[in-house]
Amino acid sequence: MENIQTVNTMPRIGDKAPAFEAVTTQGNINFPQDYAGKWVILFSHPADFTPVCTSEFITFASMQEQFRLLNTELVGLSVDGLYSHIAWLRTIKEKIDWNGHKNIEVTFPLIEDISMKVANLYGMLQPNEATTKAVRAVFVIDPKGVIRAIIYYPLSTGRNFDEIYRLIQALQTADAFGVATPADWRPGDDVIVPTAGSCGVAKNRMMGKEGDMHCYDWFFCTKKLDKEAVLSKLVAKPAKK
Ligand code: BEZ
Repeated sequence: MENIQTVNTMPRIGDKAPAFEAVTTQGNINFPQDYAGKWVILFSHPADFTPVCTSEFITFASMQEQFRLLNTELVGLSVDGLYSHIAWLRTIKEKIDWNGHKNIEVTFPLIEDISMKVANLYGMLQPNEATTKAVRAVFVIDPKGVIRAIIYYPLSTGRNFDEIYRLIQALQTADAFGVATPADWRPGDDVIVPTAGSCGVAKNRMMGKEGDMHCYDWFFCTKKLDKEAVLSKLVAKPAKK
């Protein structure tokens, strides 16, 4: 028997991504197991055949290869049925020419969730915003199936996909280099050095610049991290033939 929670749960950062099986526009998925070893962006949209969602799907689909280079897969969800999803995605491909994008084919899976099983499991239904539609939720799940970031947007506001891309780069950089990233960080910008060790040194004897490190105060030290060094860690290498 399936072990699915039907209460409106809210997974949190650091939790294991709740498991589910679902039907999608690309066949059945067993989540997050099918994505072991990859980063995944699981995101919900309120409804098929709506304008903000259409602009989001066009944008996300046009960035899919960029995300793949970060070993990151996209999985969408709404509480619509499979035939609605298929008809909407076909309309997007055949008819919509928006913001310089046309003939956009959405090849990542879009989960059908008429029962709202998955939407409930992930806290995507937020009844004071809408009772019959998911909000615009974004769950970033790492290769071990752990939720690393969550973003929620209301129905009226399309997401910023550059920010989601930046977020994946920042999480992967934090993992690869043991650093944190400051506001608006992009690869090539200075990163934040963990304070306990290195800035303990700073507290005693250093303020200002020493080598690659710059301390603004004892609790706030940054260092350079070359864009090339970052990108070489983040960009997925093509599989060997
Ligand atoms: C939209 O995607 O345009 C939308 C969906 C649900 C409510 C409001 C707007």
